[in-house]
Parts: sequence; structure tokens; C-alpha cells
Amino acid sequence: MMFHRRKKEPNTNTLPLSTSPMPSRFRTSSLTTSFKSFLLVLSLLLNFYFLLILWAPYSNTLAPSSVVSRLTSTTRRHVLFAVASSSLSWPHRQSYVNIWYNKKSTRVLAFLDAPPRNSSDESPPVVISGDVSGFPYTLQGGLRSAIRVARVVKEAVDRNETDVRWFVFGDDDTVFFVENVVKTLSKYDHERWFYVGSNSESYEQNLMYSFEMAFGGGGFAISYSLGKVLARVLDSCLRRYGFLYGSDARIYSCVAELGVTLTHEPGFHQVDMRGNLFGVLAAHPLSPLCSLHHLDAAQPLFPDMNRTQALRHLIAATNVDPTRILQQTVCYDRSNSLTFSVSWGYAIQVFQGNVLLPDLLAAKKTFAPWRKIHSNFMFDTRDNPRDPCKRPFVFYLKSITSDKSGIWSSYSRYVEKKCSKSNPTLPMEITVFSRKLDLSIEEMKAPRRQCCNVLPSKNETISIHIRRCETDELISMEL
Ligand SMILES: *[C@@H]1O[C@H](CO)[C@@H](O)[C@H](O)[C@H]1NC(C)=O
Ligand SMILES: *[C@@H]1O[C@H](CO)[C@@H](O)[C@H](O)[C@H]1NC(C)=O
Ligand SMILES: *[C@@H]1O[C@H](CO)[C@@H](O)[C@H](O)[C@H]1NC(C)=O
Ligand SMILES: *[C@@H]1O[C@H](CO)[C@@H](O)[C@H](O)[C@H]1NC(C)=O
Repeated sequence: MMFHRRKKEPNTNTLPLSTSPMPSRFRTSSLTTSFKSFLLVLSLLLNFYFLLILWAPYSNTLAPSSVVSRLTSTTRRHVLFAVASSSLSWPHRQSYVNIWYNKKSTRVLAFLDAPPRNSSDESPPVVISGDVSGFPYTLQGGLRSAIRVARVVKEAVDRNETDVRWFVFGDDDTVFFVENVVKTLSKYDHERWFYVGSNSESYEQNLMYSFEMAFGGGGFAISYSLGKVLARVLDSCLRRYGFLYGSDARIYSCVAELGVTLTHEPGFHQVDMRGNLFGVLAAHPLSPLCSLHHLDAAQPLFPDMNRTQALRHLIAATNVDPTRILQQTVCYDRSNSLTFSVSWGYAIQVFQGNVLLPDLLAAKKTFAPWRKIHSNFMFDTRDNPRDPCKRPFVFYLKSITSDKSGIWSSYSRYVEKKCSKSNPTLPMEITVFSRKLDLSIEEMKAPRRQCCNVLPSKNETISIHIRRCETDELISMEL
């Protein structure tokens, strides 16, 4: 079908209606006049048909609902989250889920092996998984529950829930950033077969499992049409792959047997790391943040807060401007020779002197690997200097205000270890002005980092203004 071609074609589209379903290759200047008028009539007819579909989506004469669904954009209600939990972990883990779950706007089902001891009214509905005792599990030292969790994919699909375009799977300690998951998935056609997610940050983990496997804790998505097929064939795969360790390896194997490969989305984070995640959060890839996992093994995301408080603080910032959360912007104060790296909604690092952009895009190794043997990472890293005088000054998010004209986020200085040498006179607070980062799908497919300016400080605060870069603008201290 061609009706999902809705892009405006500037300069070529002279029709009275702004949307044109005609592929541009039919619009060349060598066309004869009569053929042109034929096309004009045809275009008008198609436009009329197209409008009819939009206005009368449930009309009987336009039966194929797939035509309609491709034309509307994907929203929160099109995404069904299935959380794998257990009767043992649900009582204390449901509070994690409830941080990102919203009864009114998020569709979540929690799959458990047995009824839990307790479940709050604020928690998503609990579904009891089917019996899997008939499937083989032959890995010594592994956990049989992997079969049940893998089968959640089939059980979620087989419920025939209405209006689902994507199934998203995660653990009960996966924190999803729902708005960004929806936005990321809306880049893809749910009527084609897509398996979307991310592998581990650890090279050794990927080497052991697969570089093309979506790690389950980071969460992964399966399009509606792939889900339907996968649900039909999954049990046969579960019988064949009894020797594997986890549920994600079983899903990966079955998806691979269907001939489908992983669509890598770096916003999903398995977080096979421990300790202080500052280095990775301050250098997030240029994609929306979709999930974080294993936060029990990490320090609270903000200093002087407990885990829950810190996570709520980050999510509060996310709610103001979801796409911009953690997005890194770098600018330079030439007159004072300072480099500013803003990880929006989280932290600002201020370096003395000119730090080149590629060094700032690498993750500072503030964190530890999941296990000692997992010492290589899938992204660029830089050592975190031991000498406090060689570390940047760090400002953490304090508060955010917004109105129609923009968003002001303020960050306050945090001193972890004092440097005894004389410091540049930095204020205690930095304020960042930005506008909501409303990226279209086309912009998300060709992302570009934004730029910023350090405004001359009049009083005790520094102001940074985030904006689009100029066409030829380079992110560097020199002009
Ligand atoms: C459920 O039980 C756990 C452990 O006993 C407790 O920490 C939690 O607060 C309880 N949750 C609810 C909603 O009652
Ligand atoms: C879902 O739909 C299929 C096919 O129409 C049907 O066989 C199955 O019983 C339905 N499942 C539920 C839970 O309604
Ligand atoms: C975390 O801090 C909040 C706010 O101060 C408090 O209500 C909550 O009980 C704390 N949680 C834990 C686990 O200490
Ligand atoms: C500093 O200046 C900014 C902008 O001019 C203003 O919003 C802020 O209130 C001032 N801060 C103090 C401490 O005077």
C-alpha cells in the first residue's frame, strides 16, 4: 500500500491538498501535459480516498484496519508492557514498577508464577503464568524459571488485547521511560517484523551470549506482527533450546530461526555495571533514554538521596522533556577558558581549559564491571583520574521550572573530594535554558547533537542556553 506515504514534497506538490500519496518518481518534468492532468485527477482522487480513510476509519467499505492503523501515529495506548516477576520478588519489586507505571496511561501486565503475598492497588494487574513443567531445562546451575519468563512473550500475545502495536518485555527491576519507548518504536512499522532492543554493555557478556541478542533486563520490543508468529512457534523453540541459560537467549534463538535480526536501539540499558553510573549517564548516546536496569546494584543516581528518591528525581525531569533527558550538549567559555558538558536533567561537568569533544563523549569509568571478568565495554571509556584536582567540577540537577516560553533547569555544585589547589571562581549554581526537544520521526532517524552558549554571568549564577546548532557550526572552543 502507498497510503502511508504522507511526507510533504515541497516544490513538487502544487495540489490544493497538502498531502500527496503519489511517489515523487512520477513527478518528473519530462511528463507530457495530458499525462500531468491525468496524474492531477488521479492524485485528487487518491487524496479524497485518503481523507475518507482519516475521517471514516470505521466505515464498513474500508474494511482493512491495517490501512487505518498505519496512518495514525503510535501512542502510549498502543504499547503493552509485560513485566516478568515472581511471587517472591513482586512484594518488594512492585514499587520499582510503580515508579514508571501509570494506571491511566500505561498498559502493563505483571506475569508471576503464583499469586503474590501482597499487591498494591497502585500496581499493574497480575497474571499467573501457565505451567511449563513439560519443557526441558538442562543447564546445570541455571534457573528453570527462564522457560516461564520466555513464555511470557507467547502468553502476552495470546491474550488478544485490543489495539496493540508493540509488546515490550522487561524484568521487575527494569525501569522504563515510557514516553521515549513509544517515541523510539514509532520509528518502525509495527506491521513488519521487528525485534528491537540492545545488547549488554559488557563485551564479554555479548561474547558469551550473542552480540545480536536483546538482553532481557534492558527490555526489548516485538512488533505486533512478529509477536503473532512468534507466539505460534515459541513452544517448539523452547523444546529445542533447553540447554540455554536465560529467557532472553531463548527468545533470541527463536527470533533468529524466524530469520529476523536485532534492531539495535542504544536507549535500552541492561546496565551490566555496578557502583557509580555517573560516567555512562553523563555521556548517553544520541538516542532517547528508554530503560535502566540493575539499579539495585548501583549507587543512587543522585548523591545525598536514596535510590527511590533519586530515580523519582530523574523521572520528574524526564516528564518535563522526555526526549532531552540525559542528552549531552557541550559548550565553551572562551574568555575564562572553561569547558561545559551538560547532561540535561542530570548533571553538568565543568572542566578547566579546552577539552575536545571526543574526550567528553567517552564514558568516564566511575563504575565497576558486573563481574571482574567483564572488564571490556562496548563503548568508549576514559579513566576517571584519582587526583581530585584533575576531575571536573560537577553540578547535579536541583530543580526544573517550565512555561510556554521554555524550560529552566538548575544544577547545584557538589564537592565529592576537595582539591587543595586554587579553583577558578565558579558559582554554586548553573541554570540551563532550553526548549522542549520535540523531534519528528525523520529527525530521530538522522540525529544531530544540539549546541549551547555560556552566557556572561552577571551575578552568582552561570546561565547556559541550549539551542539548535548552526549549519556549519562546530562544537569546539576555537572559532
Ligand atoms: C508487601 O510486602 C513487602 C514485604 O513484606 C513490603 O515491603 C511491602 O511494603 C508490601 N507492599 C504492599 C503494597 O503492601
Ligand atoms: C485469541 O484469538 C485466537 C484466534 O482468534 C483464539 O483462538 C484464542 O482463543 C483467543 N484467545 C483469547 C484469550 O481470547
Ligand atoms: C527514601 O527517601 C524518601 C524521602 O526522604 C523516604 O520517604 C523513603 O522512605 C526513603 N526510602 C528508603 C528505602 O529509605
Ligand atoms: C542572577 O541573574 C539572573 C538573571 O539575570 C536572575 O534570574 C537571578 O535571580 C540572579 N540571582 C541572584 C542571586 O541575584
